[in-house]
Amino acid sequence: MYKGLIAVLSFAALTASAPSPLLLSREFKLTLQESLFTGATPTTAVNNLWTAIKGKGTPLGLTSSGTLTKDLERTIKFYDTAGSCLLKKAGFQFRTRAITYSTSTICTSQRESTLKYRHPDRYNSSNIDLTSSKADGCYDGEKFQQDITPPYTNVFSSSTSIQLSDSKNINTVADITDIYPDAILAYGWPSTTPLVQVSGLTIHEKRYKGSNTVGLPGSGDKQAKFTLSLWYTSSSSTTPFLAEVSFVVEDSDETWGKTSTRLTDEFWVGLQGLSSWIDPNPDTKSNIIYTYQSGFCT
Ligand SMILES: *[C@@H]1O[C@H](CO)[C@@H](O)[C@H](O)[C@H]1NC(C)=O
Repeated sequence: MYKGLIAVLSFAALTASAPSPLLLSREFKLTLQESLFTGATPTTAVNNLWTAIKGKGTPLGLTSSGTLTKDLERTIKFYDTAGSCLLKKAGFQFRTRAITYSTSTICTSQRESTLKYRHPDRYNSSNIDLTSSKADGCYDGEKFQQDITPPYTNVFSSSTSIQLSDSKNINTVADITDIYPDAILAYGWPSTTPLVQVSGLTIHEKRYKGSNTVGLPGSGDKQAKFTLSLWYTSSSSTTPFLAEVSFVVEDSDETWGKTSTRLTDEFWVGLQGLSSWIDPNPDTKSNIIYTYQSGFCT
């Protein structure tokens, strides 16, 4: 009888210790020299970048396939409070994205909103409540992932993306709580607090993705899938103000063996050696946007 009881208790202990939510996605991000991608269709630069990336997998025995191809163009707007940046200071990012060109139809509405919360402590980040009754499984829904920047800076990101109708205007804090009722309640910001576009920017993004992979060994389909984002200040601009390449590795049950962990790390270190591509003074996307208009936050 005692044995049975012990078995039940240790089973309960095991189940209770499983982290929730699981970390199913890790994204490794590199800021590139945006001037390398000047021109209306920087196909040559994009192809050369992909060749250079694959070249860092080869010595590690990693096989690669596919291409980096432009699959989306969209406009991106970040919102915050002018002169104070309340959202940013509390660890939030709120943005809308509207697709203007796509090689495939993703959702009924071409527009989405995302509320993201980031914290260096995994459990702090995973404890935020970004639930939205408007989430319908299209776009990303709820997502919890680790973001890694050189050399190995970690932040844990929780986010929820939902479809947004074209007519929904973003004017005040109430427009956030209308979509994500619980996320920012604790901060007590009046619902009438005005929101404006961060630095007045309407960003035009060209996204290169395709079905590319660099295969990492291990269980759970560990493939590094690459995305290149080029950001412009207008749809007619041919000179991006930001270029970022990232790869995502997903694992459906968060099992990271020795070999896949080591090879992911060696590949990441290798990519950081692409010195003719990498911005020698990198800044995060968020910092670039928030400082684009000087004094936006103060
Ligand atoms: C998360 O961190 C923020 C700021 O560092 C803090 O104010 C908040 O109380 C933390 N939340 C939890 C659940 O630990």
